[in-house]
Amino acid sequence: MKPSDAERLIVALDTPGLREAAELLDALAGCVSYFKIGHQLFTAAGPRAVSLVKDRGARVFLDLKYHDIPHTVAGAVESAAALGVDMLNLHASGGAAMMEAAAKAAGSSSHRPALLAVTALTSMDRKCLEETTGIAGLSVEDHVLRLASLAKASGLDGVVASPREILPLRQRLGCGFIILTPGIRQAGSPPDDQKRTATASEAVAAGADYVVVGRPITRAPHPLTAARTIISELSDALSRPHP
Ligand code: C5P
Repeated sequence: MKPSDAERLIVALDTPGLREAAELLDALAGCVSYFKIGHQLFTAAGPRAVSLVKDRGARVFLDLKYHDIPHTVAGAVESAAALGVDMLNLHASGGAAMMEAAAKAAGSSSHRPALLAVTALTSMDRKCLEETTGIAGLSVEDHVLRLASLAKASGLDGVVASPREILPLRQRLGCGFIILTPGIRQAGSPPDDQKRTATASEAVAAGADYVVVGRPITRAPHPLTAARTIISELSDALSRPHP
């Protein structure tokens, strides 16, 4: 099912604990309905972080990037599905057997979460890729496309992709495969530690289904206004014909 324009914005709840997360949820109530819980908050608060969001009627993307043997990852997916998360991710470099086991575990739960693959971390450049794979001349884009194709063939529902990768991934993998993009910055706003950024409009115009936004909203003087602005830009971009 296609997300509504507002559901395409996922706000990263990168907070040290539940109190700060609850403050953000309150500040964004009635506007944002999808939140990402990552390593910081989940390590601090565990499943209570998921309940905090779900109890307010919002959706959860659990960003824990599973990477382990197939049996262990399948168990983790089962546990995440039991918490009621709507989307979660795992490293495609864990291999086809791991991804297939994850997809099977998700499929056998009563509340099937969408499974996204992380291909190459955006912090990996060509040199880092060569060091870790031992393959000289391997391009990051080729590596990303190969792992994304493997993820699709293994039964996953989509990928996490940097703004630079959206277009080639959409062309290679077609419609219906979810593309979720972090690294969103509005024109003129500081990139923080993000190297490859795009505006929310650019990301959806290139073919992203979801954008993940953290600091431009969570550290804004008025988070609700910042979120409303991004949702309205998403709606504008989606109402224009796509290339
Ligand atoms: O604050 P900012 O908008 O940069 O936050 C982006 C969020 O997306 C963070 O939670 C970060 O961990 C996550 N992320 C990312 N780049 C990736 C994958 C995830 O920034 N390649």
